[in-house]
Amino acid sequence: MLTYNYYGHACFMLDDGKNKILFDPFLTGNPQASIKEKDVQADYILITHAHGDHVGDAASIAVRTGATCIGIPEVTDFGGQNVKTIGMNLGGTVKTDFGFVRMVPALHSAGVPGGVACGYVVGVGGKVIYFAGDTSLFSDMKLIGERDKIDYAILPIGGHYTMDPIDAAKAVELLGAANVIPLHYNTWDVIKQNPEDLVKLVKGATVHIVKPGQSIEL
Ligand code: NI
Ligand code: MN
Repeated sequence: MLTYNYYGHACFMLDDGKNKILFDPFLTGNPQASIKEKDVQADYILITHAHGDHVGDAASIAVRTGATCIGIPEVTDFGGQNVKTIGMNLGGTVKTDFGFVRMVPALHSAGVPGGVACGYVVGVGGKVIYFAGDTSLFSDMKLIGERDKIDYAILPIGGHYTMDPIDAAKAVELLGAANVIPLHYNTWDVIKQNPEDLVKLVKGATVHIVKPGQSIEL
């Protein structure tokens, strides 16, 4: 059993019943946040890049929970704070207690000098999940889908800083994903979107619209 818990913007937690894997934990200052930084649980924290709406509360959550942060070294450099980290880079795969984490490219700025933005392919609970992070559409998404059969693609659709629903629908086609969960929209007016537009545009995959605070079984 694998649960997707959505906390708003680009923050969610996957729970396989043993491991809680938190992604891009921007909660403090997040208008959509459905949980407080002091209440969120994590065994691992995966960070896609150093923009504030992604790295967010990672350091304080890691210090409180003892969770291990995974990311590009430049992004997970928390300036001497007592945070366990696994530094990796694009193309790398790390075996974990729950399965594996593969770091894949994203086309976006890093938010920190010397870093790059990334996405993740995660094997957990018998499923393969692709989280794109912040990115534009790029044709190498096809290669990501060729290496692993993606059960769920978690994609930004807000536009302005990332893909919009039109490009996200093309990404689903390139990835060959069976299911799609949109995020990174309607947090602020600048990324206002109707997720039903994605439902209309996606062919051959199921779109799951999950609201902040909701959980679904994957
Ligand atoms: Ni960003
Ligand atoms: Mn962002």
